[in-house]
Amino acid sequence: MTGYMLWNKQIVERNAENTLVSFQDRGYQFGDGVYEVIRIYDGKLHALDWHLDRLFYSMEQLSIRAPFSRTEINQLLKELIKKNTFTLDGKLYVQVSRGIQPRDHVYLEELEAVFYATIDRFDKPVDMWEKGVKVTLQEDIRWLRCDIKSLNLLGNVLARTKAQKNGYHEPLFHRDGIVRECGASNFYMIKDGEIHTHPANHYILGGITRKKVLLFAAELGIPVHEREFAVEELHDADECFLTATPLEIVPIIQIDERPINQQQVGETTKKLQQYYRKRVYDYQGA
Ligand SMILES: Cc1ncc(COP(=O)(O)O)c(C=O)c1O
Repeated sequence: MTGYMLWNKQIVERNAENTLVSFQDRGYQFGDGVYEVIRIYDGKLHALDWHLDRLFYSMEQLSIRAPFSRTEINQLLKELIKKNTFTLDGKLYVQVSRGIQPRDHVYLEELEAVFYATIDRFDKPVDMWEKGVKVTLQEDIRWLRCDIKSLNLLGNVLARTKAQKNGYHEPLFHRDGIVRECGASNFYMIKDGEIHTHPANHYILGGITRKKVLLFAAELGIPVHEREFAVEELHDADECFLTATPLEIVPIIQIDERPINQQQVGETTKKLQQYYRKRVYDYQGA
């Protein structure tokens, strides 16, 4: 844990007294807010521009009045890193709640949003990269605006807890017979050396790592199909993997009882992982 955090526009010592949350905060009452998780490599914020694009998109979609300009938040987050003299690998969490008002579903337009950001150390999950993880299919019970990175994550919370209790790293969500994404990551299937993944629409979160992976796949000459595919198609998968900001590219070696690629990390996944490690530093962000 680092010593300082951002609390609205102040950098303060990271402790409970400095950061009292009102019981009437809409983030607290309704999960009425948005967030981002940004990777830090060697003390530098990674792909900051893309994360800020998504943060502003999420706020705009929910009509949350941004409590900062893009330049301001860019500077504040960088100051936070500096103040903590943070030079390691880590992740930055930033969340914005719509604001404070007496409890009512209907929000007041003029609310002032409340925000904070913290930094924590996070080492590269090398073990997961090398050994892969298991996932379990689950009905997607989330709302239909999964493209918004909303604080309201109950569907994900229930599904991920159930999956992990049963020995799986992630739930693999399906809705209407279509494979969507995982509980906190995007999902990919490889067949005959080609990648298949769900289109970035309201059924999934448009991952920043997904964006990079699709770009890198193109650079490697690996064909990518952004399309809906049925749960049954998983039977034909040669390899599968998932992506998320903290984890990058993690091979999936089993879906429920069924092993994928004899529980070995596949060649295409390995190639992508290696290329990602090589290229990722080009995206340090603004
Ligand atoms: C539901 C969901 N899908 C996908 C992702 C991956 O997004 P990103 O690569 O931007 O971390 C996340 C990350 O938290 C997520 O919660």
